[in-house]
Amino acid sequence: MEFKHYTVMKNEAVDALECQSGKIYVDCTLGGGGHSELILQKIQPDGRLIAFDIDEDAIKASQERLKNYSNITIVKESYTNIKPVLEKLGIKKITGGVLFDLGASYHQFNKAERGFSFSKEAPLDMRFNQDADFSAYDVVNTYSEDDLIRIFSEYGEERFSKRIAKKIVEARKLQKIETTTELADLIKNCTPHVKSSIHPATRVFQAIRIEVNQELTNVKNTLNDVLDLLEFGAIISVISFHSLEDRLVKHLFKYHSQRCHCDKSQLICNCPPPILELVNKKPIGASDEEIRANPPSRSAKLRIARCIKRG
Ligand SMILES: C[S@@+](CC[C@H](N)C(=O)[O-])C[C@H]1O[C@@H](n2cnc3c(N)ncnc32)[C@H](O)[C@@H]1O
Repeated sequence: MEFKHYTVMKNEAVDALECQSGKIYVDCTLGGGGHSELILQKIQPDGRLIAFDIDEDAIKASQERLKNYSNITIVKESYTNIKPVLEKLGIKKITGGVLFDLGASYHQFNKAERGFSFSKEAPLDMRFNQDADFSAYDVVNTYSEDDLIRIFSEYGEERFSKRIAKKIVEARKLQKIETTTELADLIKNCTPHVKSSIHPATRVFQAIRIEVNQELTNVKNTLNDVLDLLEFGAIISVISFHSLEDRLVKHLFKYHSQRCHCDKSQLICNCPPPILELVNKKPIGASDEEIRANPPSRSAKLRIARCIKRG
């Protein structure tokens, strides 16, 4: 199956990096290589790009797409390993910038057998990394009712978490839940029929995907690692697709751009200087033109910050 992905806010996210020849850039979420290709065009002749993905299909498609560029190193590694990977490559500091384009690719959603879509019959899977040994099947068939309620509420903001978790636990006592459509039908049948533009299984599927791939934990930990790696002036550009991710990025950027974290009762401030300066206070969204061409881009939010810490 051909790798298809619509790169979201390509110009906005890459322009934010102020790409220059001679500097080092990192694309933490290579996917189909749309952002990476534009970065590469802008950093010739002497820039360097390191690109991460854990999805075999994404790696293969991008290797083919970017084969004519010599200054990219594509690594099939989780971006959570950014520190050891850069160290192995002899890179001490990211001098240009880092990009995250979070979430799943269009390809992952659309390739039925990857099990991301509730409308395509497939085994419950949803792993970004096809080599991982933990999948949606494990979440659905082994998590306790309380844990299911927790992830559906926290990661899916699902109103009917309790009802759905109870039904899953009842159903799997008789027979394991094996496929995407089995799970989607179960959710549809145990939730009220409300008129809505989204399928009743949307939020639960999002929650399971986040849990399977540990998306929020990974982003949080890696953003903190990136702060240690950025050189003075380097830029971090993050596109997120749901409010949980965006909130996490917003809080982290805000915390590290504040001058003081002292309690009001403290007379003398001994906070270290801030690490970041916000480039945009409010997130940037996709243009009307882009939303018309690729409707899912309406949920995207871009936040940008610059490293202002020396040394
Ligand atoms: C939205 S897509 C990126 C699309 C890309 N910017 C483009 O223009 O084609 C997100 C990608 O991040 C990858 N990804 C998710 N978690 C990852 C992780 N922990 N480490 C590396 N890549 C990850 C996914 O496999 C997916 O290919």
